[in-house]
Amino acid sequence: MIVGVPKEVKRDEYRVAMLPVGVDELTRAGHRVLVEVGAGTGSGLPDEVYTAHGAELVETAAELYGRADLIVKVKEPLPEEWPLLRPGQTVFTYFHFAADRELTEAVLRSGATAVAYETLRDDAGRLPLLTPMSEVAGRMSIQEGAKYLERPQMGRGILLAGVPGVAPAHITILGGGVVGANAAKIAAGFRADIGLLDINMERLRYLDDVMPHNVDTLFSDRHTVRDQLTRADLVIGAVLIPGAKAPRLIEEDDLRLMKPGSVIIDVAIDQGGCVATSRPTTHSEPTYVVHGIVHYCVTNMPGAVGRTSTYALCNVTLPWVLHIARLGIDGAAAALRPVARAINVAAGEVTNRAVAETFGLAFNKRFDA
Ligand SMILES: NC(=O)c1ccc[n+]([C@@H]2O[C@H](COP(=O)([O-])OP(=O)(O)OC[C@H]3O[C@@H](n4cnc5c(N)ncnc54)[C@H](O)[C@@H]3O)[C@@H](O)[C@H]2O)c1
Repeated sequence: MIVGVPKEVKRDEYRVAMLPVGVDELTRAGHRVLVEVGAGTGSGLPDEVYTAHGAELVETAAELYGRADLIVKVKEPLPEEWPLLRPGQTVFTYFHFAADRELTEAVLRSGATAVAYETLRDDAGRLPLLTPMSEVAGRMSIQEGAKYLERPQMGRGILLAGVPGVAPAHITILGGGVVGANAAKIAAGFRADIGLLDINMERLRYLDDVMPHNVDTLFSDRHTVRDQLTRADLVIGAVLIPGAKAPRLIEEDDLRLMKPGSVIIDVAIDQGGCVATSRPTTHSEPTYVVHGIVHYCVTNMPGAVGRTSTYALCNVTLPWVLHIARLGIDGAAAALRPVARAINVAAGEVTNRAVAETFGLAFNKRFDA
């Protein structure tokens, strides 16, 4: 099979979908790998390291899409990439179709098969290609929070760790899933004083067992959230109800409970955010201030730490790329249920029930697994 790795075109996106070791594994298995010039630059991976492991460099996206049977990418195809997709081609990437009707219609028209990272679900119900990005965003949220608490960044001028004789910061983490647990671990290392909230008692019991002593697990209800807001220097929004809009835990009026210059990092912004005053921002302009509270609502946080995120993503995607290259998409779907579940669109038809329902389109249950 010919596998193509394009350069990402989305603004502030520095990840690439394949490491040189991936090229090595694919070529050793008898496949050919095309890499677009400059694809790895944002992650510190120059073209030469790809060619050294057997990749062929191609100058343009048009040539890459024209020749490759399997395209492996990071972000959903953007409008300039839509005309390049073609029947018989498989595209393996994050699509998030339900958020974008135009993208869904363009991929349907193209005749290509869309295999979405975010719906590749294992038999235990986990989403292994989403987890690493939540780990990155969770850990990064504390790093960003520390930065925006600094006075020149409009923050309160607070050092997370405090110093001898001065108390550390109080950090409230809403949601104790992958993002929240990773945020709590890093915050604990900073010696901050942490409240970690969730509504799932089983999860809270587990977190209580494994978290360091400076993390208090708390049941998330309106009173506890409001009480936490009076104390917090930094709030991390990390809640998720799978497949739904994020629950709103902080209303605009609640911001008045907070100390001026406190910071909210609403990681859940990609699902609409859990704060009434959150609106999506970008890495070029990540923050804005409402009622004296700094809001950070970047929808693709992992993009900024492209190198770490590229390695974290490619570690989990490569085994699936190898399966699809070896078996072809139909063979891989027949042999591996997670792959079948990940196919959202095939040959002009929607094959994912949720996407079909979202847009009132016909659903072909050919891959229903
Ligand atoms: N902005 C970004 O760049 C970025 C990157 C990765 C993930 N995310 C987003 O971060 C969010 C969290 O992802 P995750 O992987 O940690 O999800 P997860 O499913 O692992 O965890 C979500 C947690 O929220 C809890 N929860 C639900 N309702 C709650 C409530 N009312 N109060 C408190 N807790 C509640 C759930 O019980 C669960 O433990 C998602 O919206 C995800 O899309 C954003």
